[in-house]
Order: sequence, then C-alpha cells, then structure tokens
Amino acid sequence: MLSSIRSDLAIVKERDPAARNVLEILLCYPGVHALTIHRISNKLWRSNFPLMPMKLLARVLSQLSRSLTGVEIHPGARIGSGVFIDHGMGVVIGETAEIGNRCLLYQGVTLGGTGKEHGKRHPTLEENVVVGAGAKVLGAIRVGENTRIGAGSVLVRDVEADSTVVGIPGRVIHQSGVRVNPLAHSALPDAEANVIRNLMERIDQLESEIRVFKNCLKNGVENKNPEDMLANKAQNLKDKEILEFLGDKPNQ
Ligand SMILES: CC(C)(COP(=O)(O)OP(=O)(O)OC[C@H]1O[C@@H](n2cnc3c(N)ncnc32)[C@H](O)[C@@H]1OP(=O)(O)O)[C@@H](O)C(=O)NCCC(=O)NCCS
Repeated sequence: MLSSIRSDLAIVKERDPAARNVLEILLCYPGVHALTIHRISNKLWRSNFPLMPMKLLARVLSQLSRSLTGVEIHPGARIGSGVFIDHGMGVVIGETAEIGNRCLLYQGVTLGGTGKEHGKRHPTLEENVVVGAGAKVLGAIRVGENTRIGAGSVLVRDVEADSTVVGIPGRVIHQSGVRVNPLAHSALPDAEANVIRNLMERIDQLESEIRVFKNCLKNGVENKNPEDMLANKAQNLKDKEILEFLGDKPNQ
C-alpha cells in the first residue's frame, strides 16, 4: 500500500507542472487524498476480520472521503499504482471498476454501470489510459492501454489499445496514431452512424429520381408515366431503422 501511495505522489510531480514539491502535493491535491483514503478503505473492504462490519466501515470511510474531496470511489474498486485524479471534483468510480497503473482521470469522470447489469458492471481501464474531463465510461467494457478518451465523451463499447475516442457515443478517431475517418462506411460503429449512412443513401436515391424527372420534363415522355420509370423503394427496411432511431413507430 505504501509503495502505491509513493507512486501516486510521484506521478503528480511527473505529470503536473504546477506541483512544486511533495508537501504541496500532500496538502493541495484532492485526487491524492481520495486515492490514499481509498487504499485504506479497499484494504478494509477485502479484509475478513470477523468481529467488525468491515464492509460497512469501508463504505463509511469512502463516504467521508467523498465529503472531503468531492471524489467518490467505491471501496471495492481496484486501482493500480501511479494513478492521478486531477482536480478531482465530481469523479465517481464504481464498485467493480478496475483502473490500471498510470491512468489519468480528470474532474467529472464517471466509471459507472449502465443500470442493467449485475456482477462485473463497471469498466476496466488498462494501463496508461487518459479519461478527459466529464467523460462517462459505462458498463463492463474494456479500454485498451494508452487510449485517450476525449473530454465530455460517453463511451459504452470496448476500445482497442492506442486509440483516441471522442463524442457521444464515443467513436474512435485515431488508432495507433492513424486517423480513422468517422464517416468511412466500414468504420461506422453504432445506430446513430447507421442512420446517417442510411440517410445518405436515401438522399442519393432521391437525387437520382429528381434527375430522371428533370429529364422527363425536359425531353418529354411518349406514352410513359415518369413514375413508372422509378423504382418504388419507399418504406424499405432502412426507413424503418431511421424511424425507430428517431423514436417514431414505423408503418406496418
Ligand atoms: C480527445 C483528445 C485527447 C484528443 O486530442 P488530439 O489527439 O490532440 O486530437 P485533436 O485535438 O487533433 O482533435 C482531433 C479531432 O477530434 C475532435 N475532438 C477533440 N477532442 C474532442 C472532444 N473532447 N469531443 C469531441 N471532439 C473532440 C477535434 O475537434 C478534431 O476534430 P476534426 O479533426 O474534425 O477537426 C483531447 O481533445 C481531449 O479531449 N483531452 C482531454 C483533456 C481534458 O480533459 N483536460 C481537462 C483539463 S482540466
């Protein structure tokens, strides 16, 4: 435990140019206070001393820490060494969350559950992950090492190592230093993106229909109804997907 606390102090010195000496870090960094108290409450949580309600003590200690620091860490969370919670206020870390060594969390970060699962229901951050201010990482997902999660993002899916993720829902914009085109069709990862892709295809289709109409008007059509010249693709499966996404009921 002492070596973890030593690493927590050392990482602040290394990562925050504003930290001038150990005394200043000990006195002025609520993230350090919260982590130090967590290391004690985590020991209580895992101990099986029979005569005392250790889990209750651990939770009371973690709530005291929350009042003092604004950082709420469930005593069951597993936190590696050299972790830095910068600024701290509003950070929430759930019971089954796991945080690897040298991770950096800014203020307002939530490592929470989605409210649907039991058992392991909070995220696992591998080593050296950075979670930007206000980002929410939800569910029993795994975030690969060296990944950076943008401020304000909401991440609900696994992410491979060395990625940069931004947005709601979080999308990978860089992978191992290579920019991922967020509108590349093969890279579209979710319902929102599928709907955008479907809308783009529908716009394409409408544009070609308008072209046919314009040609008909321009050149005239002998014995033909222009509508017969168009494929009737209204209300296909993709329309249904778009309506469902918008919360409307598709026509039966
Ligand atoms: C996500 C982050 C790590 C990306 O940094 P980066 O690799 O330098 O990326 P860039 O700044 O080149 O941005 C790449 C693209 O992502 C967008 N982007 C960056 N951060 C974003 C965010 N948080 N939310 C949404 N989009 C974001 C940029 O606008 C840019 O889009 P574009 O290519 O269409 O112009 C960084 O922007 C971030 O959010 N860091 C967290 C910092 C933090 O919380 N600080 C708190 C200090 S108190």
